[in-house]
Amino acid sequence: MSGSEGKPYYITTPIYYVNDDPHIGHAYTTIACDVLARFMRLDGYRVRFLTGTDDHGQKVEKSALAAGMEPQAFTDRVSENFRRLSQAMGYSNDDFIRTTEPRHKRACQALWAKLKAADEIYLGSYAGWYAVRDEAFYTETELTKQADGTLVASSGAPVEWVEEPSYFFRLSAWQDRLLAFYEANPHFIVPDTRRNEVISFVQGGLKDLSVSRTTFHWGVPVPDDADHIMYVWLDALTNYITAVGYPEEASEDFTTFWPADLHMVGKDILRFHAVYWPAFLMAAGVPPPKRIFAHGWWTKEGQKISKSLGNVIDPFEITEKYGLDQVRYFLLREVPFGNDGDFSHGAVVGRINNDLANDFGNLAQRVLSMVAKNCGGKVPEPGELAAADEALLGQARGLAVRLRETYGEQAFHRALEATWEVIGAANRYVDEQAPWALRKSDPARMATVLYVVMETVRYLALLSQPVMPETMNRLLDQLGQPDGQRSFATLDQALVPGTELPPPQGVFPRYQDEAAVTS
Ligand code: MSP
Repeated sequence: MSGSEGKPYYITTPIYYVNDDPHIGHAYTTIACDVLARFMRLDGYRVRFLTGTDDHGQKVEKSALAAGMEPQAFTDRVSENFRRLSQAMGYSNDDFIRTTEPRHKRACQALWAKLKAADEIYLGSYAGWYAVRDEAFYTETELTKQADGTLVASSGAPVEWVEEPSYFFRLSAWQDRLLAFYEANPHFIVPDTRRNEVISFVQGGLKDLSVSRTTFHWGVPVPDDADHIMYVWLDALTNYITAVGYPEEASEDFTTFWPADLHMVGKDILRFHAVYWPAFLMAAGVPPPKRIFAHGWWTKEGQKISKSLGNVIDPFEITEKYGLDQVRYFLLREVPFGNDGDFSHGAVVGRINNDLANDFGNLAQRVLSMVAKNCGGKVPEPGELAAADEALLGQARGLAVRLRETYGEQAFHRALEATWEVIGAANRYVDEQAPWALRKSDPARMATVLYVVMETVRYLALLSQPVMPETMNRLLDQLGQPDGQRSFATLDQALVPGTELPPPQGVFPRYQDEAAVTS
């Protein structure tokens, strides 16, 4: 999907635990990445967009056992759920990686060998608390005792005592270098609140990290020590470099796309990405990624989402119910990206009916049906432009600049707010200019007004493609925008008067099931 021209842009999602059922959280991270990947491609970048599945670990081995299957066959089966999710969500990912692939095993072992040779890894023995659900180690101070006596981590995951021989990564030696790195790269961790959390965690002191296990076998074998497999997070994080050709550091792919421009993650897995990962990489002489954005979590009608509460939001179901573009829009518009958000039926329907149907849909529909009725179904010929016309067009043209800024900061909500400011201005312009009243009195002025609105809608549609690709495609068809002219390079090529238009059709239907809105 990426061309060979243009500045490279490499963006990744976390790779998903292969045996989880795809839920809203998975869809959220990847939709955000997909929107950004599409924006950058349309803006001329050579994009590499990666997603995939995290196939190894104790949790997966246990699930495979419970299903009476070999872990490999089990992961082959469940990994398909995420490929189906990719298809259903229309992701434009260029690659889908699985950590069970030979290319990945090779990259992990090469990275390990580099760390070992640099004396960053040593053999010791681990005794401590481990949460299988999080695949993470915890110190005593991070645990709380439940009423029934079980110890749980802050994530709520139960922990168990583990004692085994283990290789350790000298993370403790990286504390000062990590802090210096954060200091020198103030935008490495965003948003700022998350950056501050990571910095105080690192300032609190780092312990060496256990990076191998011997009590189960579903993982990448440690080179030259067959009793050990690699810690699943060391294995999983490496996927980001595997996919661009590591260990071939001189390869075209690696030199083009590494360091990654952006790792998008949820706030729960920031520590792995912002502390362990740059330390592993720097220790192996590989530059760290440029940026890590930690987004917030969704609740459902105010409650934490969990299987036990039975309130899991199934991305297949909601996109079927509300429409894919509608869900993409909702997720990115409803909450400032980075904050937590609440998913409720009422909120989704409100966005669909107000923002999409009333504001955007109505604007497009009004102008296109007037053009169909009064301009012979062709793009009207504008006359001389009045100040109000220039003002609206100026706002539409300025939108691209604002979007580059806001997308550059992953502020999707602000990008959409800026878009809706132009939609609001265009609706007010239509009301003020009242082209229907000009039909008899001044048809030439009516043509100018309709042309100005069509041009504005063209900017809006081109620039909204990343969020709502399918709907905007249909809208651009209706505006007579040629197929090959939909990248941002063609933003300033105005509609050609006289172009034949297809009959107008609404692109944003209202959500009808009003009775259910009370839920
Ligand atoms: N396998 C690891 C990632 C390894 S990356 C080298 C993992 N997988 S996961 O399947 O649990 O994926 C979790 C992703 O979904 C995270 O980014 C997480 O933040 C996100 N979400 C899970 N539940 C969520 C919500 N309720 N809301 C928003 N996102 C949440 O972690």
